Amino acid sequence: MENSLKFESQKLAINYFTVAAILFGAQLLMGLIAATQFLYPSFLFEIFDFSVARMVHINALVVWMLYAMIGSVYYLLPEETGIETVGIKIGKLAFYVLTAAVTVVVLVYILVQVGPADESTIWLINEGREYIEAPRWADIGIVVVVLVFVFNLFATAMKGKQTGVVTVLMADVLALAGLYLAGMFFTDNISMDQYWWWWVIHLWVEATWEVFVGCLAAYGLMKIIGARREVVEMWLWIEVSMLFGSGILGMGHHYFWIGTPEYWWEIGALFSALEPVPLVAMFVHVIYDWGKETGLKEGEGTHEKTMNNSPAFAWFVTNAFGNFLGAGIWGFFHTLPQVNIYTHGTQFTSAHGHLAFFGAYATILIGMFYMGVQGKNGIKVMKATFDSKMAITLICIGVMGMTVSLTVAGYGQVLVERAQMGATWEAFFVSQDMVWFVQGLGWRLATGIVTFVGFIFLVKDLLTTSKSPRHEI
Ligand code: HEM
Ligand code: HEM
Ligand SMILES: [Fe+2]
Repeated sequence: MENSLKFESQKLAINYFTVAAILFGAQLLMGLIAATQFLYPSFLFEIFDFSVARMVHINALVVWMLYAMIGSVYYLLPEETGIETVGIKIGKLAFYVLTAAVTVVVLVYILVQVGPADESTIWLINEGREYIEAPRWADIGIVVVVLVFVFNLFATAMKGKQTGVVTVLMADVLALAGLYLAGMFFTDNISMDQYWWWWVIHLWVEATWEVFVGCLAAYGLMKIIGARREVVEMWLWIEVSMLFGSGILGMGHHYFWIGTPEYWWEIGALFSALEPVPLVAMFVHVIYDWGKETGLKEGEGTHEKTMNNSPAFAWFVTNAFGNFLGAGIWGFFHTLPQVNIYTHGTQFTSAHGHLAFFGAYATILIGMFYMGVQGKNGIKVMKATFDSKMAITLICIGVMGMTVSLTVAGYGQVLVERAQMGATWEAFFVSQDMVWFVQGLGWRLATGIVTFVGFIFLVKDLLTTSKSPRHEI
């Protein structure tokens, strides 16, 4: 089908979305391998190590989300600023360079797996910092490519119209890119290493990425249900101030036990406990605007459609719920030091990690994939299809199922390994054999498969949706 997008920037966005979706698939496959190895440790023994499957799983996660985020900016930028993206040619070149680099890095992870653990490993194989394990050569390459992206965003915004959404994005993307540097330098003190590493991981997901999602939600509400700009942008500014207000010092919840001074207990407890507040605000914002816009249209008595992209909107609403549940509720559960001393590093952490990354980011970025499909195929009103409904249902049930399974496994660990047996070496192994733990991991694998089936429906829907007769073109 012919591409209906007028702006080169939006065509580039589609490329980013495509690679993002492929990496998402790779992420899930690696998760399934790792989850199988939890139950059957001999699975792929000496062929493909658990540590490698896990590493590729979470690095692919971060990279596909960054791809989808860059894609989202290139997608909305011409619409918000009213002009073609400045520097689009170099932007395209940067895309191919980055994708080639990512391919090499992933192949090295999978084929070489481990190195001699000296400087050459850091430079060529992996850096060993969870979530951002790219070897140093790729680290430097990423910085260069991201600089191109940041330049394009700034140059376009200065030249074109500066809306509130774009202004917030500019500040946010600069902070997001800058923070990456905190995870790049080497120190041989593990406490210091962790101290700085959290600047990337925590300040990404609990500050800059959340603000980014606020921008996407604002843009999506205007595009999909025709929400008024003054209203969504007012919310956006409030959310930004609250997110930064609690998110920055909320980092203290990672400084409880790594050798940092004890005052972090109080700081971390207070500010991270406040973090759910902006997430509630974002939730209320989406639901309120939805209700208001629908009511307005109904009140006018016109038959005009309130919603021009149902699958995207379904994912945006899932985001409002998921962000609140995964980050807000599951995060709050273990954020006080009095609780965290028992739950730290158990499967409970993993339960929160899954639901938060999924609820806060995967959902809204999948929503952006649908916006891209709509634009590319020139669809005026895009409705849900059987496949799109199967996708969202199975993926949500799957991830929620994994979260609940891991929460049960985690509580088993908390009770036996931490509370009863006092966190000894032996306690760890006893709890690993406990029936609740093993069954929890069994259910995680089963619900992981459900998630993967949902993903197949999603890909099918994204690829075929233009041909569906249920769309008004
Ligand atoms: C969308 C936002 C969020 C994402 C994507 C996210 C993700 C994660 C992930 C992946 C981890 C595990 C990190 C590791 O490997 O050690 C983690 C840890 C943690 N998160 Fe979040 N999180 C988010 C928001 C929150 C919020 C709002 C809170 C508190 C209200 C919170 C509280 C915590 C705590 C206390 C830990 C440490 C767990 C431990 O001690 O093992 N998170 N988060
Ligand atoms: C097919 C579905 C999936 C399966 C079977 C799966 C499995 C796994 C496994 C086995 C681990 C290692 C846990 C450990 O070391 O104890 C893991 C970690 C992780 N996965 Fe998944 N996963 C799946 C989907 C997802 C999705 C959809 C997301 C987010 C969007 C996600 C985010 C994460 C994160 C953030 C971690 C690190 C958690 C931590 O260390 O606290 N996974 N996953
Ligand atoms: Fe955090």
